[in-house]
Amino acid sequence: MTTTTTAWQALADHYQQDIRPYPLKQLFDAGGESRFTDLSWQAEGILLDLSKQRIQPKSLDLLLQLARQRQLPKAIERLFNGGIVNPSELRPALHTALRQSQGPYPKVDGQDTGQLIADNLANMQRIVNKVHAGEWLGYNGQAINTIVNIGVGGSDVGPQMVCQALDEFKTETKFPLKFLFVSSLDGSQLAEMLQHLSQATTVFIVASKTFTTVDTMANAKTAKAWLRKTIPSDKAITEHHFIGSSAHPERMHAWGIPQANQVALWDWVGGRYSLWSGIGLPIALKIGMAGFKQLLAGAEAMDKHYKTTPLEHNLPVLLAMVGIWNINILRLKAQTILPYDGRLKILPNYLSQLEMESNGKTVTSDGSHTSLDTSPVIWGDVGANAQHAYFQLLHQGTPAFYADFIVPVRRTPSNGYSKSTQAQLQCQQELNLANCIAQSRVLMMGDSVLQWEDPCDKSPDRLYPGNHASTTIMLDELTPYSLGSLIALYEHKVYTQAVIWDINPFDQWGVELGKQIAKTTLKAIQQRQQTMACDEHFDASTDGLLSHIDTCTHAHQQTILNKNTGQP
Ligand code: F6P
Repeated sequence: MTTTTTAWQALADHYQQDIRPYPLKQLFDAGGESRFTDLSWQAEGILLDLSKQRIQPKSLDLLLQLARQRQLPKAIERLFNGGIVNPSELRPALHTALRQSQGPYPKVDGQDTGQLIADNLANMQRIVNKVHAGEWLGYNGQAINTIVNIGVGGSDVGPQMVCQALDEFKTETKFPLKFLFVSSLDGSQLAEMLQHLSQATTVFIVASKTFTTVDTMANAKTAKAWLRKTIPSDKAITEHHFIGSSAHPERMHAWGIPQANQVALWDWVGGRYSLWSGIGLPIALKIGMAGFKQLLAGAEAMDKHYKTTPLEHNLPVLLAMVGIWNINILRLKAQTILPYDGRLKILPNYLSQLEMESNGKTVTSDGSHTSLDTSPVIWGDVGANAQHAYFQLLHQGTPAFYADFIVPVRRTPSNGYSKSTQAQLQCQQELNLANCIAQSRVLMMGDSVLQWEDPCDKSPDRLYPGNHASTTIMLDELTPYSLGSLIALYEHKVYTQAVIWDINPFDQWGVELGKQIAKTTLKAIQQRQQTMACDEHFDASTDGLLSHIDTCTHAHQQTILNKNTGQP
C-alpha cells in the first residue's frame, strides 16, 4: 500500500522539514540560478517546467522512489502489452495501440488488434475521401457539406476539442465543409442547429461506444425525425445521412446504419481515450487523414517516451508525481487548467473528464476504501479569459489549488492575412506569453514580486499572499503532432497517478445509478402527465418537484386551451 511504503514516510518527513516552513519564494532563493534547469525537462517538442511547484529536487527523488515501490515500470509495461488494467470490466486499455505505427500489436482474446486498427483507418480514409471529393451525396444527389457529430462525453468532447484546436489545419475539400457538435440531452443544441441546416446536404455521425447512451440516441432520433420531413424513406435517410461510430456494429445495424457507413472502436478502448479511434472521424474529415495521422504520430512519440525513458526524465511520470505531492502531501484538492490559447478553449473540459472520470474513485484494487485523496476537482478556461473571471480567487481567495499553464510559444497565422494583421497577431501572441508567465510568477511570489514595495504599506485587500504552485507546459507550436503529444502526456499522467493510488482509471461505475434512477423518474413524469396521478413516491423533494412540474405543465396547457377557445 502506498502509505506503508518507506518512500511515503520519507516524503511526509521531507515536507515537514524542508518544504512546509519555506514559502516558494524562499525555495527559489535557495535553489539559485539552477532551479529552472534542475526542475524542467524537454521531450517531443514539449517543455515541462515544475520549478514553480513547492518542491526541491530531493522531493522528486523521493516521489520517484515511491513510484518504483509502487512498481510503476511494470504497470507501464502492462498497459502497453494489453494486460488487464481495467479489472472490474476484465479489459485491457489499448488506446496506445490506436496510434502505434508498426507492429507487433497486442492481442485481445487472440485477435490481432493491429489488423482491426488498420482496417478501421482504411475505412475512415474511404469515407474521408468520398466526403472531401464531394462524392458523399444526400438522398437527392446533392453533395454533403455539413457534418454533425452527435455524441456525449468521450464521444463528443475529444473530437470537438481537437477540431476546434486545429481549425487552422482544416484541409481543402471540393465543397466547403461545416462541422457541428451536438451533445446535450435536452435537445436545445440540436433544435437551434436544425433551423439553419438543410436535410439534403447534412450527414449525422452518431458517435457512441455503447450505442445505448440515452442522450445520443435521443438526439439521433430527433435528427431522424427532422430528416423524415423531406426524405421519404428511412433507407434513404440512413444510407445517405447517417454514419455510425461505435464498438457495437450489431446495434448500429439494428438502428439502420449500413455497414459501409460504420467506423469502429472496441471495448478495449475507454470512451474518454477514444478520439484516436473511429470516434475521431470528425477530426479526420476536418484536417484530413494525413492530419489525423500526424495527431496519432504525436501521441505515439509521447507513448514511446513514456514507455522507454527513465523515470527521472519521463514527462508524464514527473507531471503525475508532482500531482501526487500536491494532492496527498500538500492536500490541495483543486487543479485549474489554463491554456493560454483560445484554440484550446475546450481542453480544460476534455481534461476534466479524462482526469475526474478516470481517477474520481475511492475503491482500491483489493476492494478496500482508499485512505488517500484521489483526483482533485479539475476545472479551467482559456488562461487570459480566466484572468478576468476567477483569478481574483486564485490570487486572493481561500481555497488551496494548483495550476497548469499551457501555452504554445509560436503561433504562425495562416497566409490569408495582410502583413500588418500578421504583425498585430504576433503582438497579441507576445502579450499572451507575457500574461501567461506573469500570472504564474505572481501566483508563486505574491507581493514579493515587487521587491521595492513594502507590503506593510499596502491596505490588506491589496495584498497577494502568493505561494501558489503551478506547472508550465510550453509547446513549440500548436500542430496536430504537438496536440497529440500533449493529450497523451495527460493520459499517461492519469494512469501513473492511478497506479500510485492503486485504483482502476478505466471504468466509471459511478455514472450508472443516476442514469438508472432517471428511467424511473421519467416513467413517473410521463405517468403523471397521462393520468394526472402517480402511485410512485420518491422523497419529499422529488415528489415536490414532480408536482411543481405538473402544476406548471397543466397551467401552460390551460393557457393554450383558453387561447384556442378564446377564453380570457
Ligand atoms: O456516462 C459516462 C460515459 O459512459 C462516458 O464514459 C462516455 O464517454 C460517455 O458516457 C458516452 O458514452 P458512449 O460513447 O457509450 O455513448
